[in-house]
Amino acid sequence: MAEVCDDLLLAYPPVGASKLRRLMSLPNTVRLTVALDSVESAEQLEREAAEAGRSVGVLVEIDVGLHRVGVQSLEGMLKLVRRVADHSFLEYRGIAFYPGHIRGGATVQDDVAQLGADLQVAIRALDKADLHPAVVSGGSTPTVWQSHLLEGLTEIRPGTYVYNDRTTVQAGACDWDDCALTVLATVVSIAVPGQAVIDAGSKALGREPPLDGDGFGVLIDQPEVTVVRLSEEHGILNLGTSRWRPRVGETVRILPNHGCIVVHAHEKIYGVRDGRVETSWPVTARGRRRLQVGTRL
Ligand SMILES: Cc1ncc(COP(=O)(O)O)c(C=O)c1O
Repeated sequence: MAEVCDDLLLAYPPVGASKLRRLMSLPNTVRLTVALDSVESAEQLEREAAEAGRSVGVLVEIDVGLHRVGVQSLEGMLKLVRRVADHSFLEYRGIAFYPGHIRGGATVQDDVAQLGADLQVAIRALDKADLHPAVVSGGSTPTVWQSHLLEGLTEIRPGTYVYNDRTTVQAGACDWDDCALTVLATVVSIAVPGQAVIDAGSKALGREPPLDGDGFGVLIDQPEVTVVRLSEEHGILNLGTSRWRPRVGETVRILPNHGCIVVHAHEKIYGVRDGRVETSWPVTARGRRRLQVGTRL
């Protein structure tokens, strides 16, 4: 990302020396901000930032209902913000949150109203303590169309919306026609009655369940057909819901339940227009750090 953007937010607590050193090795021209929720994380970051001689921005993560990460109380938030503001190599920039618990289309308005009220309480508490958050960073794809209702929000972080997926359709945040990412697969067997087998299994589609209904993906051209069962290399299409009968060798395109996992599972994304591959993009941010032989764990 540093190659294409000089203002980066890492919306994840970077804990552990190797991650922190990798972060510090980003070019000094990058304005770096990190979201975190613990004193330990802030202190580790400060140590590495001091060693690297660079200042790092910090957003204190608050839990707005997903119960994944985030400080749990106003007191906890104020305490951590003060600790961050006291560190000489950390620059307190504001707060961050991720409303991943808000998904339902019809109920979104209610949940967002509550989120807006909770945010106001947090911002007011910070203002009162003379710790105004210059940045209030939050948001997701399902809540993107409600962002204007969140007073004080300064930036949004939708990600899935770039391609959308079956879950986003089911959450009511996009339409079927807004989905741009599909997995191209080939029918390799029709031997067992009532089903067809494609060469895309869990390694290609992921194993995330849908919000509604069944299956690990759905055929874009036969939306009544889902991938009901998966092995690593086999996807089982249920033909019991359709009159469509594929031949061995026929290709199909599958709309996955969760596009993010699918992108990570593939080395390249192909840009297709009118049935023709026009371009391809390598998925450079996939994979893991590499350990050298001899590294102490
Ligand atoms: C911290 C954080 N911010 C933003 C996003 C993007 O949200 P969405 O996938 O709903 O677009 C995610 C997704 O998992 C996330 O974990």
